[in-house]
Amino acid sequence: MERTERLPDAAATEALGARLAARLAPGTTLWLRGELGAGKTTLVRGFLRARGHRGAVKSPTYTLVESYPLADGTTVHHLDLYRLGDPGELEWLGLRDLLTADSICLIEWPERGAGWLPPPDLVVRLEMEDDARCAYITTPENTPSPPTDTRVG
Ligand SMILES: Nc1ncnc2c1ncn2[C@@H]1O[C@H](COP(=O)(O)OP(=O)(O)O)[C@@H](O)[C@H]1O
Ligand SMILES: [Mg+2]
Repeated sequence: MERTERLPDAAATEALGARLAARLAPGTTLWLRGELGAGKTTLVRGFLRARGHRGAVKSPTYTLVESYPLADGTTVHHLDLYRLGDPGELEWLGLRDLLTADSICLIEWPERGAGWLPPPDLVVRLEMEDDARCAYITTPENTPSPPTDTRVG
């Protein structure tokens, strides 16, 4: 199923991230698709703030992954695979170790990890719409039992 949401400004993108944060259970993976500047990192910032992270949220463009241990015992791993040379590098990153039962993975540019990433539990595609953005939220059909409610309104 797909749900569409219009995001008039960056605050709306953060608010969508916050609502997803309230619904994504530990052990799940969210893919964030969309062009450079579409608002993927902005959504992650809203997600992390809503889960109690107080510090900065910077794009892991060069580090590929930034991990945020949270007060509730879960860890959020924020990946940005834009600069991944080869999907095989994910092995070197130890990606499999990141996907544990008490962590949540938020992955920008998942298409760069094609064939190496496990299937997502939820996909958000952000598209530019003049000065605003539009979010397309999908629960992939290959997910046997969706761990989350896609009604994020
Ligand atoms: N809904 C929105 N409407 C307008 N600007 C937005 C929206 N969401 C995010 N932005 C802005 O878009 C710019 C790029 O956002 P960013 O999250 O870094 O994109 P990405 O991670 O997809 O490259 C930022 O200046 C951010 O404030
Ligand atoms: Mg980004």
